[in-house]
Amino acid sequence: MDKLKIIGGKRLHGEVNISGAKNAALPLIAASILVNGKTYFTNVPDLMDITSIRLLLEDLGATCKASKGYLEVDGSSIKKIEAEYDLVRKMRASILVLGPLVARFGHAKVSMPGGCAIGARPVNMHLSGLEALGASISIEHGYIEAKADRLIGNEIYFDMPTVTGTENLMMAAALAKGSSVLRNAAKEPEIVALADALNKMGAKINGAGTAIITVEGVKNLSSADIKIIPDRIETGTFMVAVAATGGDVLIKGCEPDHIGGLINKLKAADTTIIPSTDSIRIIGNKPIKNVDIKTLPYPGFPTDMQAQFMTLMAIANGNSMIHESIFENRFVHANELLRMGADISISSGNIAMVRGVKKLQAAQVMASDLRASASLVIAGLVAEGTTVISRVYHMDRGYEAIEKKLSLLGADIERI
Ligand code: EPU
Repeated sequence: MDKLKIIGGKRLHGEVNISGAKNAALPLIAASILVNGKTYFTNVPDLMDITSIRLLLEDLGATCKASKGYLEVDGSSIKKIEAEYDLVRKMRASILVLGPLVARFGHAKVSMPGGCAIGARPVNMHLSGLEALGASISIEHGYIEAKADRLIGNEIYFDMPTVTGTENLMMAAALAKGSSVLRNAAKEPEIVALADALNKMGAKINGAGTAIITVEGVKNLSSADIKIIPDRIETGTFMVAVAATGGDVLIKGCEPDHIGGLINKLKAADTTIIPSTDSIRIIGNKPIKNVDIKTLPYPGFPTDMQAQFMTLMAIANGNSMIHESIFENRFVHANELLRMGADISISSGNIAMVRGVKKLQAAQVMASDLRASASLVIAGLVAEGTTVISRVYHMDRGYEAIEKKLSLLGADIERI
């Protein structure tokens, strides 16, 4: 199994290009199920999760053509409505095929995603939303089965904002009969990207990016060209890496507006940030100032940046409090950071007290999930000595060519 070997202590310098966003690409690719024809995607990141959703669509019968940065999905050949356990267990986001399948074919059977390293992650709001649209739902032998002759538009109220839940229901409502209103919807840029793409396919969606989304159902959707938006979490991960190493990097092809919650906190930590329309220059300054964060739905501080920010605070000048309010078990990286000399204690499960130390020490550590692996890479970049990170497959799910991009910025990192 691949590992990453990092010799710490190098400042990052130069320019880096941001890839297409994993969490935008996944629902967009799932949306191609809604089309009885071809959907063309550009700026597609080369990631394990993208391969997983493509394989799932192919298993359903879709014809896919993939080349560097490009994916074409022909939904006209879809014959099967069942997303099997062996494909779904590799990636929870496979639940995104549920809404489109039942909306287009009136029937869907999707293996129920289990818990994962960061929490229980139930899908109850996806299911109650589909029920509100008239689907009958049953769960048997580990499979969710949804049936409806045609979905009927309705009001859906989310108990809390859910990103993939909002996406699933937006896709389902797009082909429902009549209008739907999604209240307390998630507002992430990936939701806006999905609504824009669905509208390009002929859907009638308004309000994406706000808490109330209205969807006027249409009979069918048609072919469209879709460009995947830049990955705000990859952008943020590079920003934190530069801040931690004290480097100076121009991050290109990104959307600074999508990462405002992090920019605000990095500025408070005394990092210099110069945003422009599609790039951000970031200059790390020492000492790093201690800052408290609380993860919140967009536009709050993203939970997907919490682990990386914890590494930064581990070498800050003072104490900081990190409150994880989205997932119940998203501090597994803290235990690995302790092995590298960080001083972190977890109280009441979702609050971490980080007492900044002068230096981290290299160690052998293990990645537990995607963003935890990014936090360990950043720790390796600043630690004294050689860090070896195992279970790098977590990283490969969501960061395109991470070691190549970091090497070009001057990091001493290789895959072994
Ligand atoms: N929740 C429920 N019931 C539901 C759905 C969600 O209780 O039916 C809860 C979750 O357990 C969680 C909260 O609602 O406590 C929010 O979860 P959400 O549904 O928004 O998460 P998600 O859609 O499963 C997406 C991203 C995650 C990201 C979260 C939060 C994708 C494919 N995944 O997950 O990305 O952390 O939103 O922003 O878009 C990652 O990329 O590393 C990652 C985990």
